[in-house]
Amino acid sequence: MTNLSININKVALIRNSRGANYPDLVKVAKDCEKFGAQGITIHPRPDERHARYSDVPALKKVVKTELNIEGNPISKFLKMVLKHKPHQCTLVPDAPDAITSDAGWDTIKHKSFLIDTIAELKAAGIRTSIFIDPVEEMIEGAKEVGTDRIEFYTGPYAHNFAKNKKKAVKPYVKCGKLANKLGLGINAGHDLNTTNLNYFIKSVENVAEVSIGHALITDAIYYGLHHTVLMYLNACRG
Ligand code: PXP
Repeated sequence: MTNLSININKVALIRNSRGANYPDLVKVAKDCEKFGAQGITIHPRPDERHARYSDVPALKKVVKTELNIEGNPISKFLKMVLKHKPHQCTLVPDAPDAITSDAGWDTIKHKSFLIDTIAELKAAGIRTSIFIDPVEEMIEGAKEVGTDRIEFYTGPYAHNFAKNKKKAVKPYVKCGKLANKLGLGINAGHDLNTTNLNYFIKSVENVAEVSIGHALITDAIYYGLHHTVLMYLNACRG
């Protein structure tokens, strides 16, 4: 079984569009857990257009499963993560003005920065994960920087799924085997949905967790949050 961590950034985006606390991020997080999600993810970006840094303490207080905070480890972000100590921190090399994350770390070029950052997070008792493209050298590099887990950037998989799903998943299968051999935990995320999720989980061995936001919150408009969470939990069964 792969754990489902629900990224609630899109809920924060709707809230922010009106200025009041509606929808309430804390209530949505609690409900996602009540409906069976095994984790909650937020990605506070530097401009705080979705989740805000100020959302973190309240979420840390109520999330009983796993709070995953993802983002580019700029000093403001690291300070916040070290203060609130989520269960997991996912490091993402996204530009401040990026619409969404669109590439993994170059674990060779950024080796010393990642070693230092990961060591600091681990010393604070926070599990670390780094966003990664399915490229063998990058996985080997991930092992060297000491991260507990990698998170596969699944955007290209999702993009190519309709054309040829076997071909689309192939690099992830290969790199997943390598990650398993190296003892790295495997997470995955980006553009996963009810069409492509189960095939990914069945193809790549030992996916511990998927983090899903955009498609899940969009589906909730049609099916309601409770039913949608159950649909995704079902797709998480390998
Ligand atoms: N993982 C990372 C690192 C992300 O930046 C995002 C999007 O914020 C996701 C997973 C979830 O992607 P999606 O919203 O497409 O499900």
